[in-house]
Amino acid sequence: MNPQPQILILDAGGQYCHLIARKVRDLGVYAEVRASETPAGELSAAKGIIISGGPNSVYDPGSPTVDPALFARGPAVLGICYGQQLMAHLLGGDVRKGEKGEFGLATLEMDATSDPLFDGLFGPQQVWMSHRDLVAGVPPGFSIAGRTETCPVAAIANPARKLYAVQFHPEVVHTTRGKELLANFVFRVCGCEKDWDARHRAPLVEQEIRECTGARNVFFFVSGGVDSTVAFTLCTRALGQERVRGVYVDTGLMREGETDFVRRMPGISVECAQEQFLTALAGVTDPEQKRHIIGEEFVRVQERVIESRRLVDENWILGQGTIYPDTIESGGTAKAALIKTHHNRVAGIQKLIECGRIVEPLKSFYKDEVREIGRELGLPAELLDRHPFPGPGLAIRCLCSEFDAEVRSTPEGWVIPVHSVGVQGDSRSYAPVLAIPELDHGRATELINQLSGVNRVIALVSGRAPMAEMRVRACSLTPQRLARLRNADAAVRRLSHESGFDQQVWQFPVVLIPLGTEKAPDSVVLRPIHSVDGMTAQSVTMEAGLLDRMSKELLAQDGIAGIFYDLTHKPPATIEWE
Ligand code: XMP
Repeated sequence: MNPQPQILILDAGGQYCHLIARKVRDLGVYAEVRASETPAGELSAAKGIIISGGPNSVYDPGSPTVDPALFARGPAVLGICYGQQLMAHLLGGDVRKGEKGEFGLATLEMDATSDPLFDGLFGPQQVWMSHRDLVAGVPPGFSIAGRTETCPVAAIANPARKLYAVQFHPEVVHTTRGKELLANFVFRVCGCEKDWDARHRAPLVEQEIRECTGARNVFFFVSGGVDSTVAFTLCTRALGQERVRGVYVDTGLMREGETDFVRRMPGISVECAQEQFLTALAGVTDPEQKRHIIGEEFVRVQERVIESRRLVDENWILGQGTIYPDTIESGGTAKAALIKTHHNRVAGIQKLIECGRIVEPLKSFYKDEVREIGRELGLPAELLDRHPFPGPGLAIRCLCSEFDAEVRSTPEGWVIPVHSVGVQGDSRSYAPVLAIPELDHGRATELINQLSGVNRVIALVSGRAPMAEMRVRACSLTPQRLARLRNADAAVRRLSHESGFDQQVWQFPVVLIPLGTEKAPDSVVLRPIHSVDGMTAQSVTMEAGLLDRMSKELLAQDGIAGIFYDLTHKPPATIEWE
């Protein structure tokens, strides 16, 4: 049994909502998430309330709100981002649209105060911002405690009523002192006591698996990645090897060597379905459609496998390695904006969920917690420390185009008419990419905040032809392009491993874009990022010698015209391009 939550997070629709709960739990205090409109009376047993960020403006009709009685009495409240704007709006302050958005890193100037929330946080510090609206006038009884260059009201306090709010995101790792601020709120303002340790969760999860499956057996489609392997192992431990079966579907969309790795794992058989997937994806260019098709084909393969092995009866249910970010970013929580559809939440799977024929033992854990559980289970570090790889595989790293299109030269660089996915102000964007001649992260952040119409900035590293001679060509997923991407990815992985660079990054997607010349129609984008759980990410700088070796080797490969480096953080771009 979990303890009574001391901290409740009100979900105003932000993609970071569950991350706040996760960070509070990390401090050793049990926290849960509730719908934002939950009546104040139902929240009064908690010691503190945190209102999350969200994609809306407080003036949008139907935008999330909270019970105003919350502010009149009861537990201490901390508003974050939209939470700050909502608190100010409901208490008589003024919220306006900012002249420009503020997405990414900013410097916060904190005043010297005697307030327990800001204790020890005096002076300049790096924070993470993701907003367009801002508080222009503070409500009566509040004072301003901190500001950034773009945002004059970045932290407000009403200590007499224990009401606090910040415009930045203390829950993300890029806010360097965010953990201290959350700890101040949890322990000093709310007076919470430690009651939670994320380790040693395996026995509890195993118990949940037994309760969920009852007398039924579990059938797993494993990917060979951390999540599905940990989920599979937990089920095996909970139910015994004879009640759990694992099948790996070879979609033809995996990286080099991946299928061979899985073949060596005990208890797993391989189902070949390359042709089925490639035929279904032929001619498709839209990312959401690709994901949808892959999800549907997975279900078809699943049905075929289950039928051919006589597993159609009610004695079997499907096991999945879904983790928290998958659920949140697919709009799985009450109000989270749709950022991307994940393949394990498409209609076919949804139907199984509705019938209760699914077990997802890891659905409330973040990646780093899954690794912790994996270590508890004694799984090898080689598997646990492997970079995450998306379910739809190379398909969502092989970008396609419906039309031939020209690159447009601008004063900053070149606008490349290849659309990629982003997340701006907490909702999904789909926009062209700006390429610039210099590998400069500062310049990229500046341009992203200044320009509208692009959500990603990449640097041109090297090319076989000048940009003026390159264009985007209509193309879809072909075995030839997938092989091209697979070779490029294998070379990048080998060079990063040999140099130790793979240890310095959290993930390193290699993306193929249909930009090039007649003879070499594609280009490669390198996307090394640092992250803690995939919810936010920073583009990582690579040592010049390694980049030089990498780009030379890639340019020598067949069909590759240019090498680019993705300089964009998340937000405003997502980690993957689709
Ligand atoms: P984004 O691109 O949304 O990625 O910033 C966040 C993390 O999620 C992974 N990802 C996926 N994983 N199925 C998955 O299993 C998917 O459809 C999918 N899309 C993104 C991504 O690799 C990153 O680690």
